[in-house]
Amino acid sequence: MKLLNGVNPCLLLLLAPSPFKFSAATQALPPQHPLQDPLQDPLSISSSTPLLALHESLVNHPSTTGLEANITTFLQTHLESHLNLTVHTQPVAPNRQNLLAYLGTSRTTRLLLTSHIDTVPPYIPYSRHGNALHGRGTVDAKGSVAAQILAFSSLLASGAIHEGDVALLYVVGEETGGAGMGAVNDLGLSWEAVIFGEPTELKLARGHKGGLGFTITAKGRAGHSGYPELGTNAIDVLVRALYALQGLKLPSSKTYGNTTLTVGKISGGVAANVIPESAFATVSVRVAAGTPEGIQELIERAVLAAEPGVELSFSYGIGPIPLDYDIEGFETTVVSYGTDIPRLKGDHKKYLYGPGSILVAHSDHEHLTVADLEAAVEGYKTLILESLKR
Ligand SMILES: *[C@@H]1O[C@H](CO)[C@@H](O)[C@H](O)[C@H]1NC(C)=O
Ligand SMILES: *[C@@H]1O[C@H](CO)[C@@H](O)[C@H](O)[C@H]1NC(C)=O
Ligand SMILES: *[C@@H]1O[C@H](CO)[C@@H](O)[C@H](O)[C@H]1NC(C)=O
Ligand SMILES: [Zn+2]
Repeated sequence: MKLLNGVNPCLLLLLAPSPFKFSAATQALPPQHPLQDPLQDPLSISSSTPLLALHESLVNHPSTTGLEANITTFLQTHLESHLNLTVHTQPVAPNRQNLLAYLGTSRTTRLLLTSHIDTVPPYIPYSRHGNALHGRGTVDAKGSVAAQILAFSSLLASGAIHEGDVALLYVVGEETGGAGMGAVNDLGLSWEAVIFGEPTELKLARGHKGGLGFTITAKGRAGHSGYPELGTNAIDVLVRALYALQGLKLPSSKTYGNTTLTVGKISGGVAANVIPESAFATVSVRVAAGTPEGIQELIERAVLAAEPGVELSFSYGIGPIPLDYDIEGFETTVVSYGTDIPRLKGDHKKYLYGPGSILVAHSDHEHLTVADLEAAVEGYKTLILESLKR
């Protein structure tokens, strides 16, 4: 980020009184930005909407998991000064806070609107190409965050929601283990319904797959590669164990499709002329049917039959998550990614909805369109109003 007359632009952003000014300040940064000549840019009018300005500001605050402090401060200031909300911050770890915002003094609300403010690395700055909004987090999940806040603010302005109806919750740490949402269980709150924001391409999710993670560790005996028969090659052992996984039949269901398995990382050995002493692999299973315990058993049996000496260590296990979709007017879908939904305890209804596609989230071409972002505001408004009618 460039310094303006020695003043850190982040400071200007925090002090700026309106969302439009946030946008104007940050637009000075990318030289290729199309807004410099309004006459040549038919998009300049929609560029200045509060929705687009908020989305841009969120993306311009890098918030890779663990480094969420700046975006929390920005969002707190925004919600307090623009929506006049009461903001409660909940420490999750040093310099990492969840943020709960509500009207007046009523922390207890019928409905909760929530998403996460952390992103995966690496940071990619915001840029706009025509109607496409690019950058890290534009989809996952700052598109949902911006659309939820604008939906809330629109319903507030029209008098459709009041103190005690809806709260906003933005958590840290969703991308790596869910420490933020885990901590929300300590707030002692409960809701009739919770609307989770993640990219669903504006469809209401009927459910999402569960997950199971594990590592395989193979131990060998080191030695000179000229005499492989005198050592034990841990990489060879690992490869045979992984091969046993390739043929494994895992359960499937009509609703969630196939349980899939991805070997995401392998490592081992030290040099080409040394018999490797150790090797390991980490694997992620997306559970579509059955139980995590049952799948764990299938995996253990297959791997240990091929290589009895390897060590298997399972880190988490969760079955498929059914969701609520009893609200008219939405296409529905089933998604294959995990969310914070199972981490929030309680018997609330669970809705999952948001703009953008998971297929570009986490990629170097993460982006969504202006139209999708705008449509998500209407979608959230419908979900809020329909949930409040029940
Ligand atoms: C947070 O803001 C400070 C001050 O502007 C800056 O030095 C730091 O790099 C920012 N952190 C992240 C993760 O962007
Ligand atoms: C802001 O909210 C408080 C309640 O928390 C209320 O008393 C006050 O009137 C509100 N201010 C405006 C400008 O709406
Ligand atoms: C599920 O796996 C079967 C083969 O086992 C395959 O034919 C089918 O296309 C898969 N379904 C999906 C949705 O990927
Ligand atoms: Zn996400």
